Amino acid sequence: MNPVLRSSGNLSADRRYDYARAAAGEGDHAAAADLLQQTLEIAPRWAPAWFALGESREALGDQAAAAEAFAQALDCEPDDSQGAGLRLARLRGETPAHPPEAYVRDLFDQYAPRFYQHLVSDLGYRAPQVIADALMRLCSERGRDMRFRAALDLGCGTGLMAREVASFCAEISGVDLAPAMTMRARATGLYARVETGDMVAFLRDVAEGSVDLVLAADVFVYCGDLDPVFAAVRRVLASGGFFTFTLQRAENGHFMLGEDLRYAHSPDYLASLAASHGFDMPICDQVSVRRDRGADVAGLAIVLTSP
Ligand SMILES: C[S@@+](CC[C@H](N)C(=O)[O-])C[C@H]1O[C@@H](n2cnc3c(N)ncnc32)[C@H](O)[C@@H]1O
Repeated sequence: MNPVLRSSGNLSADRRYDYARAAAGEGDHAAAADLLQQTLEIAPRWAPAWFALGESREALGDQAAAAEAFAQALDCEPDDSQGAGLRLARLRGETPAHPPEAYVRDLFDQYAPRFYQHLVSDLGYRAPQVIADALMRLCSERGRDMRFRAALDLGCGTGLMAREVASFCAEISGVDLAPAMTMRARATGLYARVETGDMVAFLRDVAEGSVDLVLAADVFVYCGDLDPVFAAVRRVLASGGFFTFTLQRAENGHFMLGEDLRYAHSPDYLASLAASHGFDMPICDQVSVRRDRGADVAGLAIVLTSP
């Protein structure tokens, strides 16, 4: 992702910061750390410089000093659009229940213009197709028509999921945290409405039992604890409705935060969460929906049904 493009308000500090990023880009983290210390002498409360210093110190193997820099970044910018809290948590061996909203929003606002090219063309992203195939399989196994009355697309992004299912759904509503993504989703013309905001807050305003399909393609990698969203979906899903999503697979535990600051969830955790919210789990497939550095990322495609 792009570095956060902001100014410290001081040209000299900004210049040192730019040199530091260039040095870090070339792998010279010692020079980068030195330049960032100089930046912070001029602009001591500038969060991007603290964050970059944390990254360079981590690359140099000084975890304690890196944690201190990430903590400073968090203190300077409590909204935490850079994800300093996630980096800090990883260094401390902790797993936050969810990432900061500002971090996800900024990440995808920056990513939106090149989302399709990067994710689909470069990383072979295919979560929407995998979900559509799983739905088709389940409908066929159950002798049920592949038709849905009202669908919700959680974390709809630019609208790739709607493209796959629009012909089976009378109406699709979408929600996403990032305004640059919702703008693109609206432009597809495939949604009845698209809201900008957090999916759990969005679900609170949806009438009980009013939808028969809930989709979340590659979204729960940005949520650790899935209990709130499972509870919210259970409330809005009509009897016989489907709740389907992809995620990254963790081998054990409940959920973990990876090096890429994406969460992975274990099949056992998902099975127990599904059971505790009264869902059946007819499909839990091991799949890969994208590559990372040339290798398939281990994932899961799940369909839950509401009895
Ligand atoms: C990898 S993209 C996938 C987008 C889309 N589902 C697709 O398959 O193309 C993840 C999306 O989830 C959104 N997102 C993450 N956490 C969210 C939350 N708590 N509420 C709403 N949207 C969220 C992000 O803004 C981003 O657009």
